Amino acid sequence: MCGIVGIVGKEHSEQIIINGLQRLEYRGYDSAGLFVSDGKQEHLIKSQGRIKNLQEKVSDDVNGTIGIGHTRWATHGKPSEENAHPHTSQNGKLLLVHNGVIENFDELSQDYLADETFYGQTDTEIVVNLIASFMENDSLSTKAAFQKALTVIHGSYAFALVNQEDPETIYVAKNKSPLLIGLGDGFNVIASDALAVLDQTHEFVEIADNELVTVTADNVIIENQAGQTVQRDSYKAQLDASDIEKGTYPFYMLKEIDEQPTVMRKLTQEYRDDHGKVNIDLNLVNEMADSDRIYIVACGTSYNAGWAAKSLIETVTQIPVEVQLSSEFGYNMPLLSKKPFFIFLTQSGETADSRQVLVQINQLGFPSLTITNVAGSTLSREAKYTLLLHAGPEIAVASTKAYTAQIAMLAILTQAIGERNKTNTSFDAFYELSIAAAGMEAMVDEKERLSSLVEQYLSTTRNAFYIGRGNDYHVASEAALKLKEISYVQAEGFAAGELKHGTIALIEEGTPVLGIITDAKTGPHTRGNLKEVESRGANTIVIASEDLAREDDQVILPKVHPLLTSLVAVVPTQLIAYYVSMQRGYDVDKPRNLAKSVTVE
Ligand code: G6P
Repeated sequence: MCGIVGIVGKEHSEQIIINGLQRLEYRGYDSAGLFVSDGKQEHLIKSQGRIKNLQEKVSDDVNGTIGIGHTRWATHGKPSEENAHPHTSQNGKLLLVHNGVIENFDELSQDYLADETFYGQTDTEIVVNLIASFMENDSLSTKAAFQKALTVIHGSYAFALVNQEDPETIYVAKNKSPLLIGLGDGFNVIASDALAVLDQTHEFVEIADNELVTVTADNVIIENQAGQTVQRDSYKAQLDASDIEKGTYPFYMLKEIDEQPTVMRKLTQEYRDDHGKVNIDLNLVNEMADSDRIYIVACGTSYNAGWAAKSLIETVTQIPVEVQLSSEFGYNMPLLSKKPFFIFLTQSGETADSRQVLVQINQLGFPSLTITNVAGSTLSREAKYTLLLHAGPEIAVASTKAYTAQIAMLAILTQAIGERNKTNTSFDAFYELSIAAAGMEAMVDEKERLSSLVEQYLSTTRNAFYIGRGNDYHVASEAALKLKEISYVQAEGFAAGELKHGTIALIEEGTPVLGIITDAKTGPHTRGNLKEVESRGANTIVIASEDLAREDDQVILPKVHPLLTSLVAVVPTQLIAYYVSMQRGYDVDKPRNLAKSVTVE
């Protein structure tokens, strides 16, 4: 959600910015813009829609040595060129890009800028004019005015500011929204995500909330709120530019679906010691094992992963698990148990809804763990413990490999707790994950079959249902979410038994209903529910494990441990969503209106 790239001290900064913004496209955006200067000539270029529209507007004579660029996901004001960043102060001097939401922008505008009229509707335009007004009215330098503005602004932000009259410095600051400094030889860069500038540098410095950083070609000065200089070591990003290449794949999503078996094996390598035991911080294991209830807090696909792991955790550890939506939990906190332990499941580690819960949990003094794919992300820094998913960057907006990695990570963690509490007698996470990885491999090989299934049943449908019971219901919820996200089919994941209590009214001639069956206990009932909709005209598709499958079932799942069936059952549903979207000619990786990393509540 919104992306920032900036650079100072290198020729053709406009191209570096455009390349960087392209790598941030996955975050979701609907307009883009950049400002560059070579000290003599300034260029402010904006466009609605994709980065290629922006690229087309950059003529050959542009050659900046400093610049800031931005992809915008509209919050205040519609997606348009005038609302695209960078925003310019009315005196024409300052340029600002911003990621986040300023909560008190109306008050700021009334208190400090009552006489001014604005060209757009964004909170960012208010901030850039606020800084300019502090410069003018209080005779402050750019930095001092920026610092003063930060003291009156409430909300989330990552800012990058340039004064055209000093085209050698970028000022940056952040609060809750991500921003990093990348160090180069004779130049420095800034970016919302290290991925954006890996072709320029692998060495990064983190910025903490409420710091102000002055970035020039040869220097990076970090100051805290009191104006004192802060020394901070840089670190090397453990990422490779090739991790974010699509290779021969038409879309990242397909590549990421295919990577899932490898991710299972990678996780096993990362968390197994030389003796085959789980290698996870013992303090974390003990603290969780001693808790009386585990709360999993998450959004979207991560929330579905939490549900998919609930019975696994409860069975192996005998500790009750609650799965909660971050955006609800933070504002309607249920009565908590006496010794709770909180797990934040978040692919990006930046989701604002989840972060607001973590802030409260920290204030209450309860222990927390973030399970994330992004090292150094905000939720990982702020939780007591972190476990990384090691899934490699997930670029497609629709999450696939992070979902299965989250379940696998929880399986490994669960085993450690079960062993510590002596509640686990037979579950061997590493062995079971190796079987699941082989099963996932078999499923990703079913592409042709799934593609023709989509052609036959889902190519033109406006709606669809996934049904299942128990764990199959949780996979059904994720399967439906995937279908909605990228193919815009109105899809619903339903507890199979509940369908007849109302929703069956929506079944018409040809409505696709996909049933997931991996549990011998509930399978016959789900089959009965499929018959009910079939007799009302639905086209039914059965996804069943091989031990429960019947001859005419369309998708047969390899047999895996009963607590890990979601790992294989979800793969065909990811591929079904992919083929529906692709066959309809949509941009599979960048679905409309969605952002990968949602940094606003
Ligand atoms: C966004 C994405 C979803 C994702 C959700 C939670 O809405 O579009 O794909 O599941 O955020 O993200 P997180 O990074 O916290 O897992």
